[in-house]
Amino acid sequence: MPIIYDESKKIFYMHTKNTSYIAGFVSKYFVHAYWGKRVNEIPSVEAAAPYCPRGSFSACGDKNEPYISADTLPLEFPVYGNPDLRSPAFHAEYYDGSSVTELCYASHKIINGKPKLEGLPSAFAGENEAQTLEVCLHDEKTDIDVYLTYTVFEEKDAITRSVKVENNGKSVVNISKILSASVDFYSADFDMISLPGAWGRERRVQRTPLSRGAMIVDSKRGASSHQMNPFIALADKKTTENSGDIYGMNFVYSGNFTAGTEVDQYGMARMFMGLNPFDFNWRLESGETFTAPEVVMVYSNSGIGGMSRIYHNLYRNNLCRGKYAKTPRPVLINNWEATYFDFNEEKIVNIAKKAKEIGVELMVLDDGWFGSRNNDKSSLGDWFVNETKLPNGISGLAEKIEALGMKFGLWFEPEMISPVSRLYEMHPDWCLHVPGRARSEGRNQLVLDYSNKDVCDYIINTVGEILRNAKISYVKWDMNRHMTEIGSAYLPAERQRETAHRYMLGLYYVLETLVTEFDTVLFESCSGGGGRFDPGMLYYMPQTWTSDNSDAIERLYIQYGTSIAYPAITMGAHVSAVPNHQVHRVTPIEIRGDVAAMGQFGFELDLNRLNADELQKAKECVEQYKNLRNIVHFGDMYRLASPFESNHAVWQFISEDKNSVAFFCFNILAEVNGKYWFIKAENLDPESMYKEKECGIELSGAALMNIGLPIMSESDFGSRVYLFEKMN
Ligand code: GLA
Repeated sequence: MPIIYDESKKIFYMHTKNTSYIAGFVSKYFVHAYWGKRVNEIPSVEAAAPYCPRGSFSACGDKNEPYISADTLPLEFPVYGNPDLRSPAFHAEYYDGSSVTELCYASHKIINGKPKLEGLPSAFAGENEAQTLEVCLHDEKTDIDVYLTYTVFEEKDAITRSVKVENNGKSVVNISKILSASVDFYSADFDMISLPGAWGRERRVQRTPLSRGAMIVDSKRGASSHQMNPFIALADKKTTENSGDIYGMNFVYSGNFTAGTEVDQYGMARMFMGLNPFDFNWRLESGETFTAPEVVMVYSNSGIGGMSRIYHNLYRNNLCRGKYAKTPRPVLINNWEATYFDFNEEKIVNIAKKAKEIGVELMVLDDGWFGSRNNDKSSLGDWFVNETKLPNGISGLAEKIEALGMKFGLWFEPEMISPVSRLYEMHPDWCLHVPGRARSEGRNQLVLDYSNKDVCDYIINTVGEILRNAKISYVKWDMNRHMTEIGSAYLPAERQRETAHRYMLGLYYVLETLVTEFDTVLFESCSGGGGRFDPGMLYYMPQTWTSDNSDAIERLYIQYGTSIAYPAITMGAHVSAVPNHQVHRVTPIEIRGDVAAMGQFGFELDLNRLNADELQKAKECVEQYKNLRNIVHFGDMYRLASPFESNHAVWQFISEDKNSVAFFCFNILAEVNGKYWFIKAENLDPESMYKEKECGIELSGAALMNIGLPIMSESDFGSRVYLFEKMN
């Protein structure tokens, strides 16, 4: 059994195949005892989480136990108002103006499977795949119940945590802070790994030693954001890509979040993640509940790579849903960088025709097909077709694409409104704003108020109508600005600080409704590229446009950083034109094709502009990708060389059946008489022989792992893919 309760010692054991998470009660406190490599049993909570008198500046909550202070205990869910004066996970204001909470054990239950989180994205599990522990803690004075929920994915080696508050008292409770996970470690001897970035430069890996005080990564932008990803890990100082202890937290949420550490006076580190308390307040009326989103927690002693593979496996199987979660997805071509707003039906059909010739399977029409949108200054919200550009409508164009033997896809940006639009004329109060204040525009647009159900239903109906009336097999769901002047005309004054979170709940409602009705449509999320690359969006849409930066070299860094938490199958990756539109770099088509083949492969250019030689190479890229996509999408990823640390980047993918191994090798810049360099494979069968498909070389697993394959550093932007098949 993955979850065991030892009644006599008041200990909860949560075991996965290789890890354990242990918590229990010391006096009235719910104490964190252990998280790490599997430990079947401990003699007592105190044995793992010892406590001792620490001097008079840590107060004690019970006169009869003067040696226990919450301030020095590792706690499971620290709340404000008791002797624990570190950063709390929970802070609320009650009817009498006080903000002291005292939670004591009330009950618990262990159930098979994993209940859904109401209105929120979350990992899912079959009855026999996971077990869930729900611990109910009670505050006597206010009558609130706090439910801490832990789901243990035994085989997947992952644990999820979330929190629910139930107001059983008679008065309103104002929740100003509610985190979903908080874990106290006895040591602070860690580095924090996080994934900061910017538009076009997403998820650069950052590794920083913990220091005394707080270290926070967060988003206040109304989206999980390009600037910070809702992921952090604590790695032992000695942890490398392949070995050592690492603890990851990833938030299944797409809006404002906080994550970080606090190192206290005793060198203990508190690691936490949850909704950003900044500008947040939730009025919980009597009889209501509030559910905080889920954190996915992963421990691995196989280094950063070991942790990544656990996240990848869980997200592939227990987060991404729908028809496309487990089937190969079509090779697409998107017209954005080919035409921008300047297109008509003929141009799109011509792009599709050429694409069909080289094996592309899906034509995606991007921004500019609706209202009078010929640039980014108008029309978001006016989701009716521009008949000057498309005289036969979306359905007419879709039919023409289908007649070519391809599928058709369409771009939307349904969370936005242009001040120059019919929708805005009709509903000027449907955007986020504060009456009497400026409405700052970002990319000439405002954000629709998804905290208002009328707005959500309008979008469901409008997008739904279009999807119902044309053969649309794919949707790109974009979101191109962050929230400012956050306020809702729909919510009363005392609920204004609920707006950003209610927006996310509205968005999740819209997405759930649409992906349920259109369950055969492939949805790809996008936010100016990878501005909402988070598990929350992946729950509804199994892939995300990784970055608006489509330069092959930049993509090495972006895809490397993204792969720390997210699997290759979720990353949209396209071959674009040269000189590249973002960085103006000229790279060979081979490297553009090889980099894109490590994600959801597509094109972002007009193939009609390629010469015969380039077109032939583009065709070979498609063929190569089709041969590799099952290995890349459903296999295990190993990062063998980091572009952040060397002039090379190398990835290895092992197919699910372990019979195929692909190496993607990149040389960033040429070196004259550079040093010899070998890539050493990971996790192959040392006894088996492997044969490379193209050059026919035969090598044992042992040779591939210990001697390796030589890499040349002769050319700028060099790339090579090796595909080995197991022979015996
Ligand atoms: C965003 C997306 C691009 C493209 C444009 C269209 O920037 O990331 O891929 O769809 O919007 O306006």
